This record gives sequence, C-alpha cells and structure tokens, in this order.
Amino acid sequence: MRRVQLPRIGTVAAWRREARNLAAEGVPPEAILWHVGDQSADLFMASPPGPTGTATTLTLPRDAVASIEKALCHSDPERFARAYGLVLRLSRRDLRWGDRSDPALYRLLAQEKAVRRDIHKMHAFVRFREISPPDAPRRAFAAWFEPDHPIVEAATPFFAKRFGDMDWVIATPTLTARFEDGTLSYHETQNRTPPPDDATEALWRTYFAHIFNPARLMVSAMTSEMPRKYWKNLPEADLIPDMIRTAPARARAMQDAAPTLPLDHIARLRLDRPALPETDGLTFGTLKPALDACRRCPIGYCATQAVAGEGPAGARLMIVGEQPGDAEDLSGRPFVGPAGQVFDRCTAAAGLDRRAAYVTNAVKHFKYESRGKVRLHQRPNGHEVAHCRWWLTQEIDLVKPTLIVAMGSTAALALTGSDAGITTRRGKIEEGADGIPILITYHPSYILRLRQGDEAAAAKAQLTDDLRLAVGYLARLA
Ligand code: URA
Repeated sequence: MRRVQLPRIGTVAAWRREARNLAAEGVPPEAILWHVGDQSADLFMASPPGPTGTATTLTLPRDAVASIEKALCHSDPERFARAYGLVLRLSRRDLRWGDRSDPALYRLLAQEKAVRRDIHKMHAFVRFREISPPDAPRRAFAAWFEPDHPIVEAATPFFAKRFGDMDWVIATPTLTARFEDGTLSYHETQNRTPPPDDATEALWRTYFAHIFNPARLMVSAMTSEMPRKYWKNLPEADLIPDMIRTAPARARAMQDAAPTLPLDHIARLRLDRPALPETDGLTFGTLKPALDACRRCPIGYCATQAVAGEGPAGARLMIVGEQPGDAEDLSGRPFVGPAGQVFDRCTAAAGLDRRAAYVTNAVKHFKYESRGKVRLHQRPNGHEVAHCRWWLTQEIDLVKPTLIVAMGSTAALALTGSDAGITTRRGKIEEGADGIPILITYHPSYILRLRQGDEAAAAKAQLTDDLRLAVGYLARLA
C-alpha cells in the first residue's frame, strides 16, 4: 500500500501533484491510502510500495478539472481515492466526462454541487465584526463561520476581491483565512473564540430588518435558504422568530396601506417632506447614524448603508464626488473602489495629501440597478441630488472649507445649481451657492469609462492639473 499524506492547507494542489506523479508511476487506485493533515503512523506506513499498473499521463477536459477540484473540497474521506480513479479512467478514455450513469462520477458531481452550495452559503452568511485598533491605517474585521465542508481556500478569494481595501480574518473550526495588506494567507485555526460585538452588528441588524418583507415570507423557503445552523453566528438571527411571528399581521397592514400611486409619485412626495427633526445640532459624530436613518428619498431603502464624508474637521479643502459606488456602499467609506484608486493616483501626482482634505459625495447612498449578482451604478436624478443637498450643506457647515472641488456633473450641479457641461467649465473656479469658491473638474469614473488610450491619459492629466490648481490656490491664501 502507498500512503499519501496531504497537507491541510493547499490540499487540492497537493492532491493534483500527487495524482500526476502516481499516475505517471502507474500506481493503481486500490494501492493508495489517502490522508489529510497529521495522522499517527499506522500498519500501512511500513508496507512496501503497492503494485504498479499502466503508466498514464493525466489529460482532462477543462470542465472536469474545475468540477473535480471543487469536489475535492467535500468532507467525504473517500473523495481523493474516487477522484484519482476517475482521472485515470478519463485520461485512458475508459470513461466519458459527464456520464452520470457511472456511479463514481455521479457521486463526484453530487459532491461538487454540495461544495458549491456550501461556498454560496459562506459568501452569503459570513458577518464581519470590526476589530480595528485605534489609528490603524486600514480598518480590520473578523468573522467566525462553520462550513459543512473544508471550503475555506475555495471560498475566501471572493472576500479578497470584495473587501480588498480592508484587513480581515475569517476563522472556521479548521482553517483561518487572513487578508492583510492585500495578501491572502491560510493558517490552522488556533483561537476558536468568536470576535467581539461592535457597531457593525447593529448595522447588520438594521439592514436585515429593512430588507425583510413580511408579505413574501415563506418559512420553509427561508429556512432552506438560510438553514438554522447558520443562525447562531448571524447578528440579526434573534430578530427572525419575532419577524416570523408578526409577519401575517404586518403583511395585512402592508396590504391595507398599499399605495395606489405609481412609485415615482411616491418618490416625489417623499422629497417634499421637511428636514428630519432629529438632525438638529448635527456633529461629525452624529452625521453617519443620521444619514443611515435617512429615508426621505428612495435610494436609502436599497443601499446597505449611507457613506458620510471623511477627513479632518476644519479641512481647508473639501472634495465632492457623485455618490458611493458598490465598494463604498459595502465599506461605508468614500472613494475606496476603482474610482477611488484613480482619485488616489491623481491626488498623489498633484502633491495633495488626501487625508488632509474632507472627501465626500453629493448623494450619500448608492443608487443601483441589480443585474443578477451585479449592482450596476445608476446616476442619481435631479430630485435626489436636490434632496441630498441638505446633507451636503450640513457637511459644509461642519467643515467650513476654504475651497471645494466638484468632481463631475452631479457634484457641480449640487454645489453651483448649474447642470451645464463639465468640459468647458473644468479647471475654473465658480462661485458656489454657499459663497464658497467651487473648482470644477472631471470625475475619476469618467476616466475609468474612457479606459485606456490617449483620451483617458489626457483626462487624467487634466484632473491632476485641476487638483494641483486647488493646492496652489490654498497655498496662496495660507
Ligand atoms: N464615485 C463617487 O462619486 N464617489 C465615491 O465615493 C465612489 C465612486
């Protein structure tokens, strides 16, 4: 018998290497014992190498490789032996990929499906708690999750893409994924204590309560999509029993109160409401929670959270963009996604320290249209910009900047009241509605839309020049 020991981290890659070598040596499936992680020595360890068969070079269809690698993330201890037997048969043309009448292949495909489902659950149900130390340069988050299968390495690159601008740790009972300064690494789990509570919990609870629609409640569908075993790690889970109990009455109340007006009329009615009374005496500390609670235009109902401006109180320069994008909506911070990267490059090239400026948006919630899993940016309309101007005024009153840079037409409209084109206005200073000078320039997303080439390079240079102009303007007044 040949004993093959696979590491707990990098198991699939190690299996691939071993399988290729064993096949080349002609070792048949029945002569191999597969193990993962440290195992104590057993009787077989001392056994001589097993019988040899026909040497085989592994060649597989691309689909087969992807499915087999997923199925290898199942918890079934037989998966390595099954997969090895299958790859030999497939490579020798003894089996056609996709032939579900073959019991081993049928089993592998079922396990692949179970793994994909487990990965989907992990993507949907991981909940981060903030654990940033004070003054840390990057925000840090931690989450605890208990998957059915060893999927940590297969599931976590998704989080690296989605939350690439923060540090995070996802611990499971076996492996822990750690993302630090843009690098993803895996470790055996040492500390099994779930991360501490903090405000992020409250945010998730509010979010869940808002997206819950009692009229569409189907308990069985809900529990099959979100099985009870995940509830204990969800901050919003203790709301679920009460929501289920009160759902019929709330659904009836929704029917009774059902509007007869089309949706855009409702939006306009909301816009006519006066300023929220609890926003009196707003401070930098109360700005974000007050914004989170704002529902006076429809965008707030769909976004994950509001994104308030960021920067020092008393910043001499305020920079205003359009509205948060997908990454900003998830992280709660302005200009951290792709447009933020262009913005960072241009500010650096202009000799402007982004951290010294107050960076915000004309509209505080992310407006989007869902296309499958993707949320496509939608430009806020004039009503929404006008409505959110109230919040921008609050920020201007708090910061009292000497100069404001308006990036793009939405910011220019909010700050000057004019929707004239940007191309002829950029690089010039206009009088703002608040009496503060407004320097108009391109929005970084405009540069992203131009993609590569001379036009994009020229627009980027112009945005940089305009930011340099802002630096010079402030230096002259200092
Ligand atoms: N675009 C904006 O206008 N603002 C952001 O914060 C991000 C993208």
